[in-house]
Amino acid sequence: MQHTEGSNPVSDNAYIYACSSSELEEGDLIECEAGKDIIVVGRGEGKVYAIDGICTHEHSELVGGELDGNCLTCPLHFACFDIRDGSVLEGPADTPLQVYEAIEADGAVWVRYERGG
Ligand code: FES
Repeated sequence: MQHTEGSNPVSDNAYIYACSSSELEEGDLIECEAGKDIIVVGRGEGKVYAIDGICTHEHSELVGGELDGNCLTCPLHFACFDIRDGSVLEGPADTPLQVYEAIEADGAVWVRYERGG
């Protein structure tokens, strides 16, 4: 989902709109589409993060998981990933998730996503 109305503070067009800042409260997870990828944004310990939306263990949508502090737990087999860097904190997953730069600006959450990259 791409959002271009309003005053996008990010001028190089490398950021996609994820959601409004007020939608994303502590511990919330919101899914957004970026090209062929599914990305989840979350707020952990006050900061916003963006991470791959599909678990690396099997195909499970992480938006249905739980974010507790910086630990994102998969809803299927309960692997735990650090939302800050994608690393695996607890199995059964053993492959980290890709993370993306997320920023808050102009009342919205934006994710840096290289199209076609
Ligand atoms: S699908 Fe996520 S831990 Fe198995």
